[in-house]
Amino acid sequence: MDLYCAAGELAGITSLVDAFYSNMDDFPEARVIRSMHPDDLTEARKKLTYFLCGVLGGPRLYLEHYGGVDLPDFHRQFTIGTDERDAWMFCMQSAIAIQPYEASFKEYLLARLSIPAERIRLVNAIET
Ligand code: HEM
Repeated sequence: MDLYCAAGELAGITSLVDAFYSNMDDFPEARVIRSMHPDDLTEARKKLTYFLCGVLGGPRLYLEHYGGVDLPDFHRQFTIGTDERDAWMFCMQSAIAIQPYEASFKEYLLARLSIPAERIRLVNAIET
């Protein structure tokens, strides 16, 4: 089974991102990163959902709708250190945990997303 299929395709990834942003609303650990986002998360949910479809080998919906993005560079506008990276990963880990995914896919996805999260932190730490 391919990764996009394992994630439940667009519907499954939409549920994952809904859980992720609902964790960001609820978790005290995520207060700082939540405040970097607009009050209305509709567009942020859609963008992350579309982006993850492409990451998992599905349709490149983000590219089609919004064009290309350099994620680390995009995130330079925020202050993202280890606390912010960990808060993002905590929201994602808890969201992944409640999805009806195979255990091996949950592990894979968490490890896969920790790579761009760390990259974003690293680029953010470099003064330009
Ligand atoms: C490391 C911790 C991270 C923090 C604190 C963070 C924070 C943010 C914030 C504040 C926004 C703007 C939302 C808005 O204005 O609507 C954003 C947008 C976005 N983030 Fe992150 N993010 C992180 C990691 C990631 C990772 C790991 C990914 C991908 C796997 C990702 C993908 C995106 C995408 C696709 C957008 C939308 C970009 C756009 O506006 O076109 N982020 N993020």
